[in-house]
Amino acid sequence: MTRELAALPTPALVLDLDKLEANVERMAAKADALGVRLRPHLKTHKCERVARLQLDRSRAGATVATLAEARYFAAHGVDDLTWAFPVILSRLEEAAELARRCTLRLVVDSPEAVAALEDLGRPLHVWLKVDCGYHRAGVDPEGDALVALGRRLAGSRRLVFDGLLSHSGHAYRAASPEIARRVADEERDLMVRAKERLARLGVEVPALSIGSTPAMAAVRSLAGIDEVRPGNYAFFDYTQVRLGACRVADCAVTVLASVVSRGRAHSVVDAGALALSKDAGPAGGTATMGEIFADYAAAALSEDLRVVSLSQEHGILSRPQPVGRRLRILPNHSCLTVAHFDEYAVVRGEEVVDRWPIHRAR
Ligand SMILES: Cc1ncc(COP(=O)(O)O)c(C=O)c1O
Repeated sequence: MTRELAALPTPALVLDLDKLEANVERMAAKADALGVRLRPHLKTHKCERVARLQLDRSRAGATVATLAEARYFAAHGVDDLTWAFPVILSRLEEAAELARRCTLRLVVDSPEAVAALEDLGRPLHVWLKVDCGYHRAGVDPEGDALVALGRRLAGSRRLVFDGLLSHSGHAYRAASPEIARRVADEERDLMVRAKERLARLGVEVPALSIGSTPAMAAVRSLAGIDEVRPGNYAFFDYTQVRLGACRVADCAVTVLASVVSRGRAHSVVDAGALALSKDAGPAGGTATMGEIFADYAAAALSEDLRVVSLSQEHGILSRPQPVGRRLRILPNHSCLTVAHFDEYAVVRGEEVVDRWPIHRAR
């Protein structure tokens, strides 16, 4: 049953199918051109319909952030999943159980995690996480732990060593696409060097897996790398626009909201922190909690009307607007925005053509 966007109750999460399809194709074509497998991160959308579009095109498995996501996508036929999160020791039995039904690849960066996986006595696939400069998780590529853990995994009679995995999340701190390219180049070079260092010590690294959306948008060569795991690229968002990773016209997800109250110098919409998230986007530029389209079809953002602050359900706008006015908000971070909704209103132009559920269980 189709319906006009203008008749949709708010707040609603709107997914522009034309833009999604173009983003999926563009990243897949870029991975092809760079000679790497694309293993998209599905945490961005948590939706098997979006995954199907991506995996029909790239067919190299997928990435998830939680076991709940892994279970959901496995139940929908995704049979090769990397759980790209340092493995949670209290969830190992669940992971091993899921690994009976699909190829589940786990991530470690500690001797404790390797020991716990070995104790399970199952032929689990394991990536060794390397810190490529983000400094969130992973072993130092020049330190002793890389060699100690790499040796242990490669020599394990129980575990299957998949290789080295990194995530260039610090590309989100890049002030320009040129700096993002430098981050991506450094990630590539550092991972290739880590593999060569292990090879010199007789430790064979089967594959190198890297990536983030801003690094992938900027990079021009991935010689020596086997696979990439961007996720946000399916939707993009205002953060990616600010980083120069995409145009406003590429952003596929918006929040449709209504003005519910008008003050003297501001107004209130029905999209607060539990619709948009409190992600403030990258530092620098005009502070915003969400940009507002002046003209969606022309991909034009308003110059002076934006979301300036958020409470749980209230979004505060920078200027008074008539009660009842409907607005499309471009979120700072689409992944966190999506995780607050139960479904997408899928649109082609102004027409709602489908509803796709979002699996946000944890
Ligand atoms: C380990 C890992 N790999 C890949 C990604 C995907 O990166 P992006 O969200 O920039 O597409 C993330 C995102 O947080 C991640 O944590």
